[in-house]
Amino acid sequence: KKKVTTLQLTKMKQDREKISVLTAYDFTMAQIIDNAGIDVILVGDSASNTMVGNATTLFITIEQMIFYAKSVVNGTKRALVIVDMPFGTCSGDPMRSLEAAIKMMRETGADAIKVEGGSEIKDDVKKIIDAGIPVMAHLGLMPQSINKYGTYAIRGKDEKEAEKLMQDCLLMEELGAFGILLEKIPAKLATEISEKIKIPTIGIGAGSGTDGQVLVIQDVMGMNKEFSPKFLRRYADLHTIMTEATQHYISDVKAQKFPNENESY
Ligand code: KIV
Ligand code: NA
Repeated sequence: KKKVTTLQLTKMKQDREKISVLTAYDFTMAQIIDNAGIDVILVGDSASNTMVGNATTLFITIEQMIFYAKSVVNGTKRALVIVDMPFGTCSGDPMRSLEAAIKMMRETGADAIKVEGGSEIKDDVKKIIDAGIPVMAHLGLMPQSINKYGTYAIRGKDEKEAEKLMQDCLLMEELGAFGILLEKIPAKLATEISEKIKIPTIGIGAGSGTDGQVLVIQDVMGMNKEFSPKFLRRYADLHTIMTEATQHYISDVKAQKFPNENESY
């Protein structure tokens, strides 16, 4: 299988073929969604929530992200693999940011990185791209800034924030970012941005006008019942399937129905 490239994503935008993106954090999941034909796998710092149970993404370290990313790369043949730079690793000190990005690329074998922020981190982004590392910018709702916002509510609703968002997207395109992730912003604004820039936009809670869509794998597969934002569509009910399978296994063990003779040596 031929690897998906960042260049191909731009081509997909030109051809109006939507880009499919899901998160993954481990080998098995990556293998399943890669074989199913997903275009891009994002090793999100949402691993802090989904894999560790933390309340925010702020607690995950670069070493921990490298562990998850390496596992995903090992399970991926075709999809482009993007890894999140965790909180504090791309925050206004270009040399340090570049070192962190190099470490991430070298120790994981991932294809690209993603960073949260706009004009505030323009020097970091330039430095990283100049070193040959493809960067996706993450704008709109930025979970690493939750303590600054104080809420996970929709961003870019007022004119001033919408204008700054548009300017940040144009800036990131100018700097050479290969794509922009837009989280939880009005569909109309996301569509305007997507029409204005030539690099692909990937949306989550940003309507249907973006060039691609991303969701968190546990959410898509219906593994958790608690998280139900409006933008989420569940494509399976693994929570029920896994709960029932576990209960079935427990009762078989208790009743000495497992293992049977064929399952024994
Ligand atoms: O960490 C993450 O899962 C993300 C989402 C926007 C998909 O960045
Ligand atoms: Na993230």
